[in-house]
Amino acid sequence: MARSETQVGIVGAGPAGLMLSHLLHLNGISSIILEARSRAYCEERVRAGVLEHTSVEMLRQAGVAGRLDREGLRHEGIELGLRGQRHRIPFVELTGKFVTVYGQQEVVKDLIARRLADGGDLRFECGTVSLRGIESAKPTIRIEKDGNIDEIRCDYIAGCDGFHGISRSSFPDGALTVYERNYPFAWLGILAEAPTSREELLYMHHERGFSLYSMRSPRITRLYLQCRPDENINEWSDDRIWSELHTRLGCADGWHPTEGPVLQKGVTGMRSFVVEPLQHGRLFLAGDAAHIVPPTGAKGMNLAFADVYYLAEALRALYAENDPEKLRRYSETCLRRIWKAQRFSWWMTSLLHRFEEDSPFDRRRQLAELEYVMSSRAAATSLAENYVGLPLEVSAPIERGAVDHPANY
Ligand code: FAD
Ligand code: PHB
Repeated sequence: MARSETQVGIVGAGPAGLMLSHLLHLNGISSIILEARSRAYCEERVRAGVLEHTSVEMLRQAGVAGRLDREGLRHEGIELGLRGQRHRIPFVELTGKFVTVYGQQEVVKDLIARRLADGGDLRFECGTVSLRGIESAKPTIRIEKDGNIDEIRCDYIAGCDGFHGISRSSFPDGALTVYERNYPFAWLGILAEAPTSREELLYMHHERGFSLYSMRSPRITRLYLQCRPDENINEWSDDRIWSELHTRLGCADGWHPTEGPVLQKGVTGMRSFVVEPLQHGRLFLAGDAAHIVPPTGAKGMNLAFADVYYLAEALRALYAENDPEKLRRYSETCLRRIWKAQRFSWWMTSLLHRFEEDSPFDRRRQLAELEYVMSSRAAATSLAENYVGLPLEVSAPIERGAVDHPANY
């Protein structure tokens, strides 16, 4: 058995785990990242695309925004569509801020490259991971691969292993409360080699179901269609997908998305999910391991960054100042932001999708709400300030000793 030690053991090399490891490194705190998949798989996985103003600032301050600043697309607003008409929500005018379109896999590539350049310990295709002794002073990550066992003794463990990881299920029975909502639809998404023909994202309400026009670069578009949760992707030829996209996204002024070869397609389920608390003993959850939002608010990756920002700061305060309060309050601090993002993501989803079970009253009310957002500066400002990202709480209000916690920090 091989044994090693580190200050923070991190499970998962998604945006949360990589950014946490980098922020800890900047503060002189050691970490080891254990990742089940290969580096190529992590770097190619197409997922989110919109970075909040807050996330861009975080990446910049952490010195990992060089390529993002060169290649990211600055978006100063989005468009909402209804009955073939578009209405712009001008973020900069309403909030002074904007968002940046830059693929999640590009952020992941940048963070992996930087961690390796800084001599970081990243272990891809690590084998089967399990966590031991999370209530003890020295929790352990155990890794089993090809009959060999490695053990990493840590001061703390960060569970950044996404929704299907093992960290959340390593909490003792009864320690977590789950808050969940499933939606009766999914998104069929494609990545197409087609030049962009709109400058901004278009979120379209349509009687056949929601549709979204997005992009990754001036040559690559990303488009989504609301579909059944059990939709069989094999029943969707490229021609059928384009025809449905034209029907839903086509506008009264003649605009249609430009077609091109489909590079990737897939179906993504929609759910809202939160566990509370995010910590037990010396195990801390961050990102999708702790919460999932439906993608309509473009919040998933951004929330992951906010969690690890708070976690890195809490660990810095502990190691550098011997102050355990921020770590003690990690869950509470994160949850305030998480629930606001949950609310916004649920609201955007409810506003724009077709809900089959809705009564005629519900449908009329939904249209009235959309028309309200399109006609009221106050309503549009509320959408805009949530979309660009609420400010990060720099120091949460702390009442010393108010939280009772089993961990011995
Ligand atoms: P992840 O990115 O999931 O990273 C977790 C990592 O942990 C993975 O690399 C995984 O391989 C690894 N791992 C898992 N289990 C183990 C284990 N046992 N041992 C070791 N490693 C493990 N958000 C949007 O805003 N817009 C979108 O369009 C969008 N599309 C999405 C499509 C899909 C299919 C999915 C799943 C998510 C999507 N999201 C989207 C959400 C967004 O991508 C996530 O919120 C974001 O990836 C969260 O980052 P994370 O680091 O917390 O988790
Ligand atoms: C994307 O480009 O993949 C994207 C953009 C905005 C969303 C969801 C996904 O709300």
